[in-house]
Amino acid sequence: MWFDIRLIAVRRSPERGSYNEFEQRHPLCYSIAVNKLFRLGVLGSGKGSNFTAIADAIDAGKISAQVGVALSDVESAGILAHAREREIASQFIPPGKFRTKLDEDAERNYVAALQAARVDLIVLAGFMRVLKGDFLRAFEGRIVNIHPSLLPSFPGLEAWKQALDHGVKVTGCTVHFVDAGVDAGPIIGQQTVPVLDNDTPESLHVRIHAAEHELYPKCVGAIACGEVSVQGRRVMWKS
Ligand code: GRF
Repeated sequence: MWFDIRLIAVRRSPERGSYNEFEQRHPLCYSIAVNKLFRLGVLGSGKGSNFTAIADAIDAGKISAQVGVALSDVESAGILAHAREREIASQFIPPGKFRTKLDEDAERNYVAALQAARVDLIVLAGFMRVLKGDFLRAFEGRIVNIHPSLLPSFPGLEAWKQALDHGVKVTGCTVHFVDAGVDAGPIIGQQTVPVLDNDTPESLHVRIHAAEHELYPKCVGAIACGEVSVQGRRVMWKS
């Protein structure tokens, strides 16, 4: 929205210099903005606090994108309620017969909903299902996830508890591209969180969550601006 308004303002008032400065600093943002606003499809099964952090960053003009749709496999998920409050399109799509993945019909329904919403990037924000074949192929290289540990340490469930049980002194969160492995794709960004002597799993999880709310918007914003590129397993950020 911010970019659309800005473009209209510039087209109507060519004497304004600010957009040229902006173009010089962010040429990729400029080319994306001229064509269309970058669109996110956010998938979550839970509270939706990362969705809220990203939506807030968009509203504050820190991410040049819009949320095209929010989807959930849980009808009562907070993410759907938050999306409705913000008048963002949202939909519960039943996951089908499996516990940890989508069945074939569900996979087709998710892909169809995301394509109908014309999303450029799929943002997994606490989506508790492993994505497989057809879904990954439909959006290859365009799916990101956030995980509550410094990957490759502690993939899988309750990563904060795994870190505490292992006795590490520093943990954190990781934003990564999604591939066929579990929490395994190229790492886009990481933020550290110290483990304190008096931490419980809950207190550590709260601080990791807070770090996620800083890291995820930064990474999504950089992707939306075309500021990251992938070379094998390495994700490079333009400075
Ligand atoms: C986060 O801790 C994230 O790392 C994990 O799922 C949780 C989602 O939390 N993948 P929320 O629903 O965004 O609050």
